[in-house]
Amino acid sequence: MRILVTGSSGRVGYQIANYFYKNRNEVVNIFMRNKTDLPNQVMLDITEKEGVDRLFNRYKPDIVIHSAALTNVELCETSKEFAYIYNVRATENIVSACEKNRSRIIFLSTSFVYSGKKRIYNEEDQKDPINYYGVTKAQAEEVITRSDLDFLILRTDQPYDWIRNWQQDSNVTRVLKKLEANLEYEEIIDWYNNPTFIPDLVRAISKLIEIGGKGIYHAVGKEYISRYEWALKIADVFNKDKTLIKPIESSKLKMKSKRPNANLSNKKIEKDTGITFATINQGLEIMKTSGNIFIG
Ligand SMILES: NC(=O)c1ccc[n+]([C@@H]2O[C@H](COP(=O)([O-])OP(=O)(O)OC[C@H]3O[C@@H](n4cnc5c(N)ncnc54)[C@H](OP(=O)(O)O)[C@@H]3O)[C@@H](O)[C@H]2O)c1
Repeated sequence: MRILVTGSSGRVGYQIANYFYKNRNEVVNIFMRNKTDLPNQVMLDITEKEGVDRLFNRYKPDIVIHSAALTNVELCETSKEFAYIYNVRATENIVSACEKNRSRIIFLSTSFVYSGKKRIYNEEDQKDPINYYGVTKAQAEEVITRSDLDFLILRTDQPYDWIRNWQQDSNVTRVLKKLEANLEYEEIIDWYNNPTFIPDLVRAISKLIEIGGKGIYHAVGKEYISRYEWALKIADVFNKDKTLIKPIESSKLKMKSKRPNANLSNKKIEKDTGITFATINQGLEIMKTSGNIFIG
């Protein structure tokens, strides 16, 4: 299979690209600013339509895994035009090229397409984002669902693992860096997530490709936990001093972007793929055993 991965330098895209490459697929890796250690890399700004069309004409991918995005939620709120171009316009470019080339598309989306007003969300629930990052990802989903492509949309939340040295921290590496510094610091008590161990997400994508899965899936871990409680678990598993972690309410941070607390059910993806997503403790234990291999 010839697979094209956008965002292959990112935290999630890198692991996707690496997995499919190691499993003997031909993988074309798109990056923008951060060249990686993967083979077959192409530097391209996917907001440039002509460049995207040229790329597809050259490589003719069977499957496109579109993971590139502007993921900084606060920046999306303060630079809306920029967020629209990166998250919506770029997706239009990718979808249009997929249509011309008859490529299948797999899109990485987010729990932020929901407001969090419902107690628990299933895939059929209406999207109702409350920040601009969520708006752009919901609009990008619409671009895909309106197309006549064979698509998969995977909504994930707080994907975590070790990182490569050019990448932004995952929440776990961020907390570990704070704890390593041995200074008191604050964690938010009223932001909740379904933390998702990236290798599970990657295996689920592979399985969905294998079984010809289509449509929308919640690709998240089962636990729903605050940032504060999550940090305590990280301290526990990595034997760090949890008294360094102090609770703080998000209102004290004076951020422009609202955060939804959306709890996503992962029943559908676990049932269809047969993959059980790791609990937070399991994911952290695997990270600990694998020994800090990615942190820069
Ligand atoms: N991180 C989260 O908490 C989270 C939660 C839910 C869903 N998601 C979704 O999961 C996907 C992957 O997230 P992530 O955390 O892996 O992202 P990330 O680490 O922030 O990486 C973003 C990637 O997008 C690439 N990119 C951005 N703009 C581009 C452009 N115009 N042209 C080409 N490449 C571009 C970046 O390339 P360079 O680095 O080379 O510039 C990088 O590879 C995203 O679609 C995101 O919306 C993430």
